[in-house]
Amino acid sequence: MNESKIALVTGAGSGIGRVVSLALQGAGYSVTLAGRRAEQLEQTAAAAHPNGGKMLAVPTDIGKPEAVKALFARVKGELGRLDLLFNNAGAGTPPIPMEDLTYEQWSATVAVNLTGAFLCAQEAIRIMKAQNPRGGRIINNGSISAHTPRPHSAPYTATKHAITGLTKSISLDCRQFDICCGQIDIGNAATEMTQRMASGVLQANGVLAPEPRMDVNNVADAVLYMAGLPLATNVLFMTVMANTMPFVGRG
Ligand SMILES: NC(=O)c1ccc[n+]([C@@H]2O[C@H](COP(=O)([O-])OP(=O)(O)OC[C@H]3O[C@@H](n4cnc5c(N)ncnc54)[C@H](OP(=O)(O)O)[C@@H]3O)[C@@H](O)[C@H]2O)c1
Repeated sequence: MNESKIALVTGAGSGIGRVVSLALQGAGYSVTLAGRRAEQLEQTAAAAHPNGGKMLAVPTDIGKPEAVKALFARVKGELGRLDLLFNNAGAGTPPIPMEDLTYEQWSATVAVNLTGAFLCAQEAIRIMKAQNPRGGRIINNGSISAHTPRPHSAPYTATKHAITGLTKSISLDCRQFDICCGQIDIGNAATEMTQRMASGVLQANGVLAPEPRMDVNNVADAVLYMAGLPLATNVLFMTVMANTMPFVGRG
């Protein structure tokens, strides 16, 4: 049990964020749930384990600096400290040729996947540096797309590659303050986002093919492992993927 630990999960109202939030809360963390849709966050909170930590739902658009400031101010004010940020919220664009994407589609993906992760990290670092005991952990949710693209995924792929740079920079700049930063790169966890993969997803050779997915609880187990390490130890990168999905063999 980690009874005194305080966590914040973005994108906590669905998919990976919901499952990880519940796993952390079940392990004794008090968990702040962030995401834009209040009712989704409340559904996560309603599934809390009876003997676990507290849940605090704070509807937030993490692409907006003032909203992120208010989110972290509530965490500090109501829970007193922050031990873990899971920078999980993310979104893609429709799978169409990049020249057909609008500026708004590009900007919306950059706002959540990259700017949001940066803004949340900034606020987390401010709290973690100043608190006593000092330090904490930031886990960024990258992707297999942080390594290699799917067809028609330029905004998603570019922002997920950028997350790798953010992870390395946070790790380098903050390690002397007892702040660890690591990244989990997930491949095909069964969530709403990957539902279309069961029926068929565009491959590099132009064919539509179904892809295997894995149980999303495997992601929660991995995040719990990373989160549970002492602050002298960091998992910098971990790839957790459906074993037979097209990645390692270039197809
Ligand atoms: N599932 C996979 O196999 C897989 C693979 C690689 C990477 N990932 C990454 O894992 C993360 C979660 O994905 P998922 O599969 O769980 O998909 P999901 O269910 O669509 O989760 C995305 C979450 O992000 C939140 N979000 C989107 N824009 C936001 C914003 N501006 N401000 C705050 N929250 C925002 C959404 O909530 P609201 O709409 O309510 O804001 C939603 O809860 C993403 O970063 C994704 O790229 C997933």
